[in-house]
Amino acid sequence: MEQGMQNKGGYPDNFSKDCHGLKTLRVETVGDVIFATFDSQAPPLREYLGTAIVERIETICQRPLRIVGYQRQTVPCNWKLFVENNRDTYHGPQLHSFVGQFGIAMPVDRVSVNIHDAHALLSSWLPPSGDKDDKNAYPAQKGKYELEDPSIAEGFKVLGDLQLSVISIFPGSLFTCIRNSWSCRRIIPTSPGSTDIEYTWFGYDDESDFEHECRKKQSNLLGPAGYIALEDAEVLTMTQNAISRGDTSYIEFGGAGIESASDHFNSEATVRAFWKGYCETMQIPLS
Ligand SMILES: [Fe+2]
Repeated sequence: MEQGMQNKGGYPDNFSKDCHGLKTLRVETVGDVIFATFDSQAPPLREYLGTAIVERIETICQRPLRIVGYQRQTVPCNWKLFVENNRDTYHGPQLHSFVGQFGIAMPVDRVSVNIHDAHALLSSWLPPSGDKDDKNAYPAQKGKYELEDPSIAEGFKVLGDLQLSVISIFPGSLFTCIRNSWSCRRIIPTSPGSTDIEYTWFGYDDESDFEHECRKKQSNLLGPAGYIALEDAEVLTMTQNAISRGDTSYIEFGGAGIESASDHFNSEATVRAFWKGYCETMQIPLS
């Protein structure tokens, strides 16, 4: 193209490739995670994410990572509903009650919520392992019912007693570590009423075959075909349909403020932080 064909045609002599290259992205990393932006005016990444999220990503990336697999899911709802779903701290026991009925849910010792601007970090920890025989195994199932194949609930502790870590980066990135099911999720709006979720499942490169298999099996709970994700997708579809009909409902849960740190899950501060960030970005006046 540059020279034309047999020196006929092509670009003019003063054509400069430097003036017509691909647009340069600004790139920064935290741990093994590479972030890129088209916005040259964006704040420094660590300042944008805040200390708590940066430290959690560095904790997760403390050993070399290995990809476990990829999955993709289409959910018939607006992308913002999916963001809300992953920030809502209290729907689990109500919507995913089978987790408790089958004793898959683990006792929780403490929880924390950190909010930095429109980003959120949710965490929960198991009770300290103490002097148990196998400090690195998850507590055995103890529920009203038993799974025919309990191996789906088998697991191993990786980050001490931390059993849940959800990093929701505004607007559409999720780093979810629930038990041994670890994924980076990209939320991709495909239409006002449809959203694609791209999952990249990962673990550590030096893990045993048993640990690698545990991660794959547990994706049957949290992956696109997992029992938990099925329930979430069903409710998101119902909510989208209700919104499309014009139905509205508002419950002020946990106050109206956005506290930057708390030690309970009984608030929608994380959801309010998202909507505040969304309105500011979209220049929608806040009433
Ligand atoms: Fe859920």
